[in-house]
Amino acid sequence: MTTKRQLFKLTLGLAAAACAAAASAADAGPIKIGLILPMTGQSASTGSQIDAAVKLWMAQNGDKIAGRKVEVILKDDGAVPDATKRIAQELVVNDKVTVLAGFGITPTALAAAPIATQSKTPLVVMAAATSSITEASPFIVRTSFTLPQVTIAIADWAAKNKIKSAVTLVSDYGPGFDAEKFFDSQFRLNGGKIVEKLRTPLRSPDFAPVLQKVIDAKPDALFVFLPSGQGATFMKQFAERGLDKSGIRLIATGDVTDDDQLGGMGDVALGVVNSHHYSAAHPSPANKKFVAAFEAANKGMRPNFMAVAGYDGMRVIYKALEATKGEGGQALLDAMKGQVFESPRGPVLIDAQTRDIVQDVYIRKVERVPSMGNQLYNVEFDVIKNVKDPGKSK
Ligand code: PHB
Repeated sequence: MTTKRQLFKLTLGLAAAACAAAASAADAGPIKIGLILPMTGQSASTGSQIDAAVKLWMAQNGDKIAGRKVEVILKDDGAVPDATKRIAQELVVNDKVTVLAGFGITPTALAAAPIATQSKTPLVVMAAATSSITEASPFIVRTSFTLPQVTIAIADWAAKNKIKSAVTLVSDYGPGFDAEKFFDSQFRLNGGKIVEKLRTPLRSPDFAPVLQKVIDAKPDALFVFLPSGQGATFMKQFAERGLDKSGIRLIATGDVTDDDQLGGMGDVALGVVNSHHYSAAHPSPANKKFVAAFEAANKGMRPNFMAVAGYDGMRVIYKALEATKGEGGQALLDAMKGQVFESPRGPVLIDAQTRDIVQDVYIRKVERVPSMGNQLYNVEFDVIKNVKDPGKSK
């Protein structure tokens, strides 16, 4: 239980941290980045992908800005929001971090938002993808994506490709609600029919009961969003129930055919059409360089969309710190807004108004790629340029 006294002390601490943020450029101590990630539990792959990408960025770009050392303090929150909130407070009040970053799932980003606001600490969301997150604090900047941003493209593709009826299956929390809502409205706008809407719990989902419902409903397609880390289990159960041979087409957001797990999914994933903002097979020179360096530094581990958002998040933080010479607070936030650069995923912008990322969204198909070790990859075959998050309420 938090007592009134503890709350008072905390508010004082956060206010003091806000003053310290403004003064930090003057002192010669290290610039600290508090990186909060799920390094354990069912979202641990998100943590290890982002951690590896942050380390790669620093190996390539050094650990000095404006003559000061940059120090990343990595903390594991296990994707538990109460832990995230406590850790964020400690990082701000005790460690006096200049930036908070990471946040593997939506509830953890939302739990830390008030800390960013009260202490005026810029908070860079590198994973969580519910549209409304950036509205939870004026100090939040996002380098990942939003579900509405990537979902509309697959709804359009489906309607144009002889899919007339669909069942939706999403994870039962924020990003799932966004995916369900935006697939539903866009598909119906295109004349499609939603036959049934199914949801599975965020923690330890069992897909067998919902897959039976899909078989019974016999739609032309099943649209799926599940958070990174659940795709492989889902695909296994999809195949075990014979759905890959049922004539029901599987379409998804790229979270399901996640590069972290895709290599091990087997033939069941072949031909799955999905939409997303990053593929490890994106054929740009910048991405080829990124993938080669990431794999070399991580025993062959393939980077996924979480890794690229962590890498780009560091880019946004570094360029902003260089511009402010290490000063934090509002000045640092302002220096993050409006950044334009070429990411391994393609061209991106941090929208100055919404603090959310604007990026290209690709339609991809899972294929074996002979030139890439005959492994499964999401091969891009269409692109929608410069997509803003369509989910903002204003
Ligand atoms: C989220 O919790 O916001 C989230 C996590 C993993 C994803 C997408 C969204 O792949």
